[in-house]
Amino acid sequence: MYFLIANWKMYPSTQKKAESLLKKTTAKIKGIDPQKGKVIICPPFVYLQNYIPSKIELGAQNCFWKEEGAFTGEISPSMLKSLSVKYVILGHSERRKYFKEQSEDITKKVKVALKNNITPILCIGETKQEREKGDTGEVLKKQLKESLEDLAGTNKTLFIAYEPIWAIGSGNNCSPDEAMSNLIFIRKQLSKIFNQQSQGEKSSIKILYGGSADSSNTKSYLEAGFDGLLVGSASLQPAEFSKMCKIAEQNA
Ligand code: PGA
Repeated sequence: MYFLIANWKMYPSTQKKAESLLKKTTAKIKGIDPQKGKVIICPPFVYLQNYIPSKIELGAQNCFWKEEGAFTGEISPSMLKSLSVKYVILGHSERRKYFKEQSEDITKKVKVALKNNITPILCIGETKQEREKGDTGEVLKKQLKESLEDLAGTNKTLFIAYEPIWAIGSGNNCSPDEAMSNLIFIRKQLSKIFNQQSQGEKSSIKILYGGSADSSNTKSYLEAGFDGLLVGSASLQPAEFSKMCKIAEQNA
């Protein structure tokens, strides 16, 4: 089972264009087999209402850590749930960088999403400098530990998106070999974190790759062992995105 998650970021610029993008994407992927994979679209909040139940599932790009309250400008997980949102991207590097999101915010968001039965897509990844200094492992370990600590007692259905920051939006994707060795490292860290917490709870963790993923490298990441991809710019091009879905389906 593969997962292709479209992160539209802050695109497109009008409601009309968003409707058209969703329509074109839905039409292009109408032939895909839902038994083999899931396609999830994460549009900006204001376009979530455009969604028409289809083979595509709906995700959001962020949410707040409270159900309601005096938090001007925020969107809560219960609001998302009422719009059929099933997934939420949390801790994306752009949110960490431009909105100064800290691990403690991200942990709270992960918890409240899980409580609302919304699957978190937790993003982790190293910067160019951290990679060059050989600190990738330390960075990933810290991000995982801080964001997932204290999840004992909750159902742990979640996605981890490994997104090397230097690869995002650069056209310079991380080589599948390097991504694979980081995937193995992430798996080890997850088993350490969760084995220390109580056993026997329902838990399903999928690991995705993100960072300049497109139809030319989809197959390699799936072959490297990733469960799917978190796709930015290629998801804004329905023909390219549907090509990725078809490649993933052939490899499922
Ligand atoms: P990209 O973005 O595919 O444009 O590199 C991925 C992401 O930021 O999730």
